[in-house]
Amino acid sequence: MIGTEKLPTNNESRAAATVRSRYNRVARFYDFEQALEEPVVFGRLRKALWADAPATGNILEVGVGTGVNMRHYPPGAKMTAIDISDRMLEKARVRAERTQVAVDLRLMDAQHMDFAGGTFDAVVTTCVFCSVPDPIAGLCEVLRVLKPGGKALLLEHVRSSNAVMGTMMDLMNPLAVRLSGANINRRTVENVRAAGFTAMDVESHMLGMVKTIRATKPK
Ligand SMILES: C[S@@+](CC[C@H](N)C(=O)[O-])C[C@H]1O[C@@H](n2cnc3c(N)ncnc32)[C@H](O)[C@@H]1O
Repeated sequence: MIGTEKLPTNNESRAAATVRSRYNRVARFYDFEQALEEPVVFGRLRKALWADAPATGNILEVGVGTGVNMRHYPPGAKMTAIDISDRMLEKARVRAERTQVAVDLRLMDAQHMDFAGGTFDAVVTTCVFCSVPDPIAGLCEVLRVLKPGGKALLLEHVRSSNAVMGTMMDLMNPLAVRLSGANINRRTVENVRAAGFTAMDVESHMLGMVKTIRATKPK
């Protein structure tokens, strides 16, 4: 169920408010866009990512969007999912009801989570840290809310390490942000490390523009 709370917009940074209103705008057509992109790029990668989530325990999905990952939730896990956009969350709530997925959906900013430290056995994100305004702050929060030994599983668009491609992505980034809300040139592997994760396994896809990152919180 979505909590009735609204984000306190007076405490919200301007950048967070911008992301929120962008995704509120995008919510109407997100699933249509996703249906086109999904079979080509992400479907197989999402499935592989979720296969590494624990079968039981507490799992948090950060940036649930419209709930595209719900079909992969482990049936034995206690699922919680957050998003900064109330319209995306509303779509997720409808999907959860339609597909009978049990998930506690909450309106929350990944950069300032309400959960106590050490709450979750795993935190999963897909295509989220390209839009969180301060990705290192968000990843520090992921580390904080994980139990020691807990897993962070991420599937993210990142800046290509190819010099020409990386520069093109830097040049195209302002337009990409305006159109979709997502930065296409984030250095998410480096950001995960900067947040304090030490043990990390990284897989590259699509010429290094998409990465699967599996990181463990030190015990
Ligand atoms: C590209 S969508 C991805 C949605 C979903 N994870 C998927 O794979 O389809 C990015 C999502 O991250 C959410 N998001 C962005 N910044 C956030 C933040 N600071 N806290 C929580 N959610 C955030 C957006 O509202 C949006 O729903």
